[in-house]
Amino acid sequence: MRYLVAANWKMNKTAADTVDYLEKFLPAVEDLTTVDIMIAPPFTALSSASLLLEKSHVSLGAQNMYFAESGAFTGEISPVMLLEFDTEYVILGHSERRHIFGEKDSLINQKMVSAVEHGIRPILCVGETLEERELGKTLNVVEHQIRAGLAGIEEDMVYIDIAYEPVWAIGTGKTATPEQAEEVHRFIRSLINELSKGKDEKTRILYGGSVNENNARNLIKEDHIDGFLVGTASLDPNKFYKIITEVLEV
Ligand code: 13P
Repeated sequence: MRYLVAANWKMNKTAADTVDYLEKFLPAVEDLTTVDIMIAPPFTALSSASLLLEKSHVSLGAQNMYFAESGAFTGEISPVMLLEFDTEYVILGHSERRHIFGEKDSLINQKMVSAVEHGIRPILCVGETLEERELGKTLNVVEHQIRAGLAGIEEDMVYIDIAYEPVWAIGTGKTATPEQAEEVHRFIRSLINELSKGKDEKTRILYGGSVNENNARNLIKEDHIDGFLVGTASLDPNKFYKIITEVLEV
């Protein structure tokens, strides 16, 4: 399985910033072809990013999408619109979408189904809050989010990646220890095996939450961590590059 190192820029960088970043970053990673790399800029930068990524092995991702193809959904972006820019991945169910914008499992599931139907590879984000962890509910929460997110598309697991992002580790500088992450990743892998009836060998389980160039190596050494979804550290092309090289060296 090829590792995936993905950047989620969240609501950062204009289209002009994106071009500056990619002009520095793309030549640096040109030869790093044994790992999958994805960048998810804001929607407004998809067009310019897609032109620059055309001849590169770096993939384009979106940070969200609505499930319908078109219609009266003010402010939303459809899978067809993402495909116009050769968007290969879409991040769905991110904890900021769940907690700030109130997205529920049922909506996330509709988006997951639509992404798979449109051939855009979804990265389903799951993870517990600090309170849930302290109550010992981590695995229950993650299991529920995965089963609900994948309802009806369990047979399509092979077209899906999963990101475990503990809410308490996102943007806080507090990373899960490799052991804490590995425990959840091992559990997710067994759940994927059950849901796909043992047929899935392509789903990557990414870790996200304060990943940086200093902690990446110890995390990726764990057996069931297959890559990263990086927020803050991915905003700096040098740091994101360093994280990718750490993954390659393991
Ligand atoms: P940080 O790397 O800033 O903690 O963000 C993680 C994240 O939410 C990626 O989707």
